[in-house]
Amino acid sequence: MVIERHYTACAKTILVGEHAVVYGAQAVAMPLHEMRLELSVRQESQQGNQRPLLQIELGGQPVSPQLVEAAREAARLLDIPNPGLKISGTSSILIGAGLGSSAALCVALLRALAGVYGREISDQDLARLANRLEQAFHGTPSGLDTNVVAHERVICFSRQEGAREVAVSGNWQFALIDSGERCATNVMVEHVAPWFRQAETSQRRIARFDDLATIAVRSLESGDQHGLAGVMNDASKLLSEAGAMTPLLHELRDAAIASGALATKLTGAGGGGCLLALLPEESAKDVCARLDHHLGARPLIPVTLKGISQI
Ligand code: MEV
Repeated sequence: MVIERHYTACAKTILVGEHAVVYGAQAVAMPLHEMRLELSVRQESQQGNQRPLLQIELGGQPVSPQLVEAAREAARLLDIPNPGLKISGTSSILIGAGLGSSAALCVALLRALAGVYGREISDQDLARLANRLEQAFHGTPSGLDTNVVAHERVICFSRQEGAREVAVSGNWQFALIDSGERCATNVMVEHVAPWFRQAETSQRRIARFDDLATIAVRSLESGDQHGLAGVMNDASKLLSEAGAMTPLLHELRDAAIASGALATKLTGAGGGGCLLALLPEESAKDVCARLDHHLGARPLIPVTLKGISQI
């Protein structure tokens, strides 16, 4: 009898600190529980002496050989010698839009391998191993994306301190606006590097992002919407100076603010992807309706973040 099992991982959005986190600043990110990648996994029996097959398809298409190699690497990291699996995946995560599609794939693959081959793995190890796999997608990731996806909690993360959960108070309303533009994360990390590395200003810029993350944590913990709005708007200006915004993202930002959003910023590496807007809790529906009208066919995804006591 062939048993099929299912493993999933969520998407994420970064509230503050993308790029700066690469240089050691803290960053704050939240999981998007409803947007998920799901892997259906069937264990293949070994045929004679042949190496068992590892087959992966996503959305009905076979994946690249590099991705199969990444899955083999995942198996090696979990000490599984010759995985024989048929894996097929579906995803509601917008690909390459700054929402952590590659981190979700790495986390789900590790969950699948660990689940099928009976390996116990903590969320912390899951995040660490998934980050090693992420290197196959974009160079030297900070670990922020795989940590928020593996823990599925709002986290404050830094390279030095790792992840700690943020105890969110109250309900928060956001909207994600997909620009439709796409740019690879590693390309954007290179693109903004001179701004972050500029000798006279580098430390001050990184410290400014670090302070914004501290204020974001305090605002989330005390339910201070305007505090978080200030953080997002300041981060947006800095990311624009760094060169991560595009003319279209600026246009979408203006439309969101004109529709009544409290703040917006790009989320993820930028150069396109999604814009994250913070909405006033009491009138979020009206703001979304006005914004939807502005955006026409462009996708608008409402997101609610519930405080810990509300879950
Ligand atoms: C991408 O989601 C976040 C970046 O800060 C890259 C990283 O943290 O590795 C741009």
